[in-house]
Amino acid sequence: MELYLDTSDVAAVKKLARIFPLAGVTTNPSIVAAGKKPLESLLPELQEALGGQGRLFAQVMANTAEGMLNDARKLRGIIADIVVKVPVTAEGLAAIKMLKAEGIPTLGTAVYGAAQGMMAALAGAEYVAPYVNRIDAQGGSGIRSVEELQQLLELHAPESKVLAASFKTPRQALDCLLVGCQSITLPLDVAQQFIASPAVDAAIDKFEQDWLAAFGRTEL
Ligand code: E4P
Repeated sequence: MELYLDTSDVAAVKKLARIFPLAGVTTNPSIVAAGKKPLESLLPELQEALGGQGRLFAQVMANTAEGMLNDARKLRGIIADIVVKVPVTAEGLAAIKMLKAEGIPTLGTAVYGAAQGMMAALAGAEYVAPYVNRIDAQGGSGIRSVEELQQLLELHAPESKVLAASFKTPRQALDCLLVGCQSITLPLDVAQQFIASPAVDAAIDKFEQDWLAAFGRTEL
């Protein structure tokens, strides 16, 4: 599987790249805007934070297919092998087809349903990103959408992968992996929760207390 962080926090990427087997970093316009750093400097910094390994993803801002193509070329000018995120609208689908023809890899984003996601894959997107928590928040089932999309891609677009996104809890991410999704992108707080919890801290404290009580020190 491929594990990504969904963030523009360079320091956090550097820290977590030491701990997690990261495949790269995904961003979206809101995530980049929150950090207020222009893509021209942010993307190379993220690349360095990953130790020069791993894929980066950044999104187009244009609303027309031609504009998206220009944005994609700009992004590729910053990071030569960046994966271009394209919202799966009518214009976005046209852009994904054109970018595929140019050999530029894409991720179909803002996916709220399996049929929409499958169209992105059929247009040639390498990745398709269903928004799990946002689907749940609308009263749907994010996991069910991921499961359907996963099956559709296996049957009809086996060269495309689901990259599940928009998580608020580790459970949502695990459920996506359990239904066979090959890649996920986690916000920092959810990534941290994969390895840290009050119960883990309490267990480690207790080991220390027991050791100290028996041997008068906490070292081995
Ligand atoms: C991924 O493509 C999305 O940009 C992202 O995961 C959305 O996450 P959010 O719903 O927490 O904003």
